[in-house]
Amino acid sequence: MPLRFADPASPALPLHLLEAEALPRFLGQLPPAQAAWLKATGFEAGLGDLRLLPDAAGGIAAAVAGLGTARARARQRFGIARAFAALPGGTWAPTGPLSAALADEVALAWLLSGYRFDRYRPGRPPTDPVQLIAPAGVDAARHLAMAKGEALTRDLINTPAQDMGPAELEAALRSLAQDFGAQARAITGADLLAQNFPMIHAVGRASPRAPRLLELRWGKAGPRLTLVGKGVCFDTGGLNIKTTTGMALMKKDMGGAATVLGLARMIMALDLPMQLRVLIPAVENMIDGNALKPKDILTSRKGLTVEVNDTDAEGRLVLADALALACEEESDLLISMATLTGAARIAVGPDLAPYYTDDAALAAALETGAAQGFDPVWRMPFHDAYESVIEPGIADLDNSPGFGFAGSITAALFLRRFVDDRRYLHFDIYGHTPADAPARPKGGVGQGARAVLNALPQMLDL
Ligand code: BES
Ligand code: ZN
Ligand code: ZN
Repeated sequence: MPLRFADPASPALPLHLLEAEALPRFLGQLPPAQAAWLKATGFEAGLGDLRLLPDAAGGIAAAVAGLGTARARARQRFGIARAFAALPGGTWAPTGPLSAALADEVALAWLLSGYRFDRYRPGRPPTDPVQLIAPAGVDAARHLAMAKGEALTRDLINTPAQDMGPAELEAALRSLAQDFGAQARAITGADLLAQNFPMIHAVGRASPRAPRLLELRWGKAGPRLTLVGKGVCFDTGGLNIKTTTGMALMKKDMGGAATVLGLARMIMALDLPMQLRVLIPAVENMIDGNALKPKDILTSRKGLTVEVNDTDAEGRLVLADALALACEEESDLLISMATLTGAARIAVGPDLAPYYTDDAALAAALETGAAQGFDPVWRMPFHDAYESVIEPGIADLDNSPGFGFAGSITAALFLRRFVDDRRYLHFDIYGHTPADAPARPKGGVGQGARAVLNALPQMLDL
């Protein structure tokens, strides 16, 4: 399935999309033989179920796909994608009636299931050429922008660290900037020290692949949005080395960077009237003779000192310097996205993106955007009572409090110390689909980008 919609003028067979409750009426309108066929094959319009309807000559007259009940759709986002995968080759024209929300889900399900990661399986034959015309009433350009942004995110995460180090992440940001006429720059290696990014340098210096701070700027006028993404291209844990299972997925530790780049791509492709700035600390957290050690005390860009009680809590260190830089300039909204803690996974699992903000209006806008974008998020608290937990006594801050509880919250509180009084949203994402799911193959996945995109008009007064 290609990541696009077919030309609406192309000859196509009807694909009837049916909610379970609409089935009796639909059967009543069908020629009796076709209705009998659907009944005989046990079709109940269950979510993702597909049947082909024969014509008099034994050819295919149409297809019928079940949208199930609202409850079934809530249990399985994009469940209709299972029906798309079962369609025979050809061009299909979806017919309703569909609510606007359902049409959006169908459109997204189609485009997001067009994603393939074939970089390491060259020469594989393309799958059956199934094509779909966009459902009536959907904003096809908007959905395409969302799907292409998401595909970029998935590609970046899925690429193994061997081919996605700090330099390659920089190349990806530069190529994105070039595609949309944005400005790009990078501060690399020893220049990080000269230009006062001590914590990005400290985390990245044990890798032969130089650490760097990446920046992209786009847009001439309008409200200012700054996105900061964790770009740890591989996280061994450093000297506090991870276990085999803990390290297994750590090529995805640049998932925050991949997600902000995907979101940036959506914003630029839609030419939204705003000014965008993307900051990515890109490092590998490796082990060498010059590696950061437990109990080292770093002085951050902001001037706050940090006792390193675990070299595996590196994300908050590199993000802190990037957030400090972000706050040296005005913005109307600052967002950080990071695969920051295992604790976030334990709290909400891989399907939900936990986020933090002190601004109830931002949270409300985001919840609406999440529902519109089929991109579930869950608000977590910046709980002030845990502030003392991240204060080690010997320095201003502790990157790994021995508290033993609320690991995602204490990491978020740590980041907030580097943000001044401005509108701030932080996402602690997972960036990975653990098993094939509709429109989301096992592997890298963006979280929160569509929720933010849909909320931007409200959040930024666009
Ligand atoms: N990259 C990890 C967090 C992570 C682990 C995200 C697994 C998603 C899945 C991060 O750098 C880390 O190791 N965090 C530690 C922090 C702790 C040492 C305070 C964690 O969560 O265990
Ligand atoms: Zn780590
Ligand atoms: Zn990490």
